[in-house]
Parts: sequence; structure tokens; C-alpha cells
Amino acid sequence: MGRKKIVAGNWKMNTNLDEAISLISDIKTGSNHSSQIEKIIFAPFPFLKTAVDNLATETNFFVGAQNCSEHIKGAYTGEVSAEMLSSIACDFVLVGHSERRTFFKETDGQLILKIQHALNNNLKVIFCFGEHLEERKHGQHFDTVKLQLENVLKSFSEEQLKNIYLAYEPVWAIGTGETATPEQAQEMHAYIRRIVSHLFSEVTAQNLPILYGGSCNAQNASELFSCADVDGGLIGGASLKADDFCKIISSF
Ligand code: PGA
Repeated sequence: MGRKKIVAGNWKMNTNLDEAISLISDIKTGSNHSSQIEKIIFAPFPFLKTAVDNLATETNFFVGAQNCSEHIKGAYTGEVSAEMLSSIACDFVLVGHSERRTFFKETDGQLILKIQHALNNNLKVIFCFGEHLEERKHGQHFDTVKLQLENVLKSFSEEQLKNIYLAYEPVWAIGTGETATPEQAQEMHAYIRRIVSHLFSEVTAQNLPILYGGSCNAQNASELFSCADVDGGLIGGASLKADDFCKIISSF
């Protein structure tokens, strides 16, 4: 059996309620022939319950939060816990996105706690990582990715890894219009699978979905998705246009 095929949209801090509702509705209509593809919408916190309700009867459609707290509960004003997300029937949480690492200085230790709380509350995780441009220029991209993966995944069991997907997002490609070439993506995804195989087992590595993210769009998605180790995409900018997002879903 082949691995799952997945297209996830990360809306970031975009849309208001009306826009979110119509975007969901347009994506539903435009992707109704794609029941084999797992589709995940990472909407902003205030619209998650609406997204859950509007997608409840759809096949293979899931809703995710873009972040969760590293704390379980209590006096942490402004934070959103994994338990809260679980209680509104949210399915996924994004952890380790480069914007969270850069702007909010999230450390590996915090990422581990977030993943633990997510898994303890029956949420699945998409764990993001990827190298900066300077690291690639200096030929350090493999070492960077290896460290990012080992530092966090070593805290989890092989059983827990069944609820963690990976997203390789080279930072130089996020929101820049510059995409990794299919060769660069495939090379890194195959390397990531080897690391997971060493950390856990070959079977787990072969079953693990690894998404590519970073300026993936309606034009380049099919080339990227045709790579043997690329199991789909985490889409930022292009997930805000229903037409483009649906084209990406049809790109396998
Ligand atoms: P982008 O964002 O598609 O706009 O480059 C991807 C991401 O940040 O997940």
C-alpha cells in the first residue's frame, strides 16, 4: 500500500470570518473529486470551530490549528491549549513552523512539549523544519535538518510517530516565490526518511508522510508531488485562493 497523499493549507494570520467561510465553501466545492487525498485546513484560532462544523460531513477533510501552548492549562493569558483544540474536534496541530521559530523564538524544548500535549489530547501533529539560505549556501542543510529532527523526534516513541507527519520547509522558500527544485526536494526527503529509519525503523520511515512546503503553487505542485519521497504539500500563500488550492489538490 502506498503512503497517504496530503495537501495542507496554512492560512497563517489571514482572512476574517466571512472570508474563512467562503474559502472553505469554495475549497469544498472545488475539491469534491479528490476523496483519496487527505486535505487539512490550518485556519486561524477564531475560525477553527466554524471550519470543523463546515467540514464535518466531508470525506478526508481535516482541520488543524497553527500552534498550541507548551503548557497544559492555567494562568497563561492569550495561550490556547491542546485540550481546548481537542474539545472542538480539531484534528491536527502545526508545530515548529519557521515563523514560530524565528518570530517567537520557539526552542526545540518547547516544540517537544507542544507535541507531547497535542498527542496526549489525540491531536495529530505536522512537525515543520528546514534550513536557512546561509546554511544551504554553506552546504550545511543536511546537518541542520538532521539536528532539527533528532533533537525533537528522539523524545517520542515509534508508536507516537504514527500521529506525527513531517513537513520539510526550506526557510529560503517560504513566502519568497523561490521553490526548491524537485531534485532538491527529493534529495532532502529521501535523506529525512533515512534519518527516521535510523531513529526508529525502516517500516516506520516508509510509512511516514513527508510534505514539502515553501512557495508550492498550482504551477509547480505536480512536479514536486511526482517525486518518490514527496507525499504532498504544506501550502501558505496559494492556500488562500480556492482555485489554486484545488488545483494543487488535483496535482497528484
Ligand atoms: P508559502 O508558505 O507556501 O507561502 O511559501 C508555506 C508555509 O509557510 O507553510
